[in-house]
Amino acid sequence: MAFELPPLPYDYTALEPVIDEQTMHLHHDKHHQAYVTNLNTALQSLNQFASMSVEDLLHHLSEVPENVRTAVRNNGGGHANHSMFWQIMKSNGGGEPTGALADDIRATFGTFNDFKTQFNDAGVKRFGSGWVWLAMDRNHKLQLTTTPNQDSPIMDGLYPVMGNDVWEHAYYLKYQNRRADYLAAWWGVVNWDAIAQRYQKGKSM
Ligand SMILES: [Fe+2]
Repeated sequence: MAFELPPLPYDYTALEPVIDEQTMHLHHDKHHQAYVTNLNTALQSLNQFASMSVEDLLHHLSEVPENVRTAVRNNGGGHANHSMFWQIMKSNGGGEPTGALADDIRATFGTFNDFKTQFNDAGVKRFGSGWVWLAMDRNHKLQLTTTPNQDSPIMDGLYPVMGNDVWEHAYYLKYQNRRADYLAAWWGVVNWDAIAQRYQKGKSM
């Protein structure tokens, strides 16, 4: 068993103009592929871990042999985070969530616009490379959090409902140093149906 790069669920141009085609090629075909390749290399003689789902692997990180644990943390996290990321975007996305997810966001953060503002602020303030997340704790309470590098909320016992990648590789070609502009524009490609499915999965865990 080896981990594999999942194909994009849409064309490389699908998220234009918010995310440009060249960024999508580099981000998916080079960066995500490298996390998968390096994860497989780290686990090449550790079949009991290589046969887990990547989420289970991150849950059991403390059991991974110490000599490869950092490599598994960085590359397993990178594989899990990006696999989530492609799924929660789509062409002509955006708008607002509906149903239970929308109710929960309002109950936790105020209006939908309040939520977006808090999410974007957290993403801007994440120093260096990392991610900004809407996550769910064990009691199914929503919270905003950020992680450094390719760390996943799973490593903190949280379920990642949705997250945005604030590594420069996610936005630098089009937005250069303007991370806040990227964060603001990103809502236009968000796939709320996919996020609602993840939310329901988190509620069932
Ligand atoms: Fe990335």
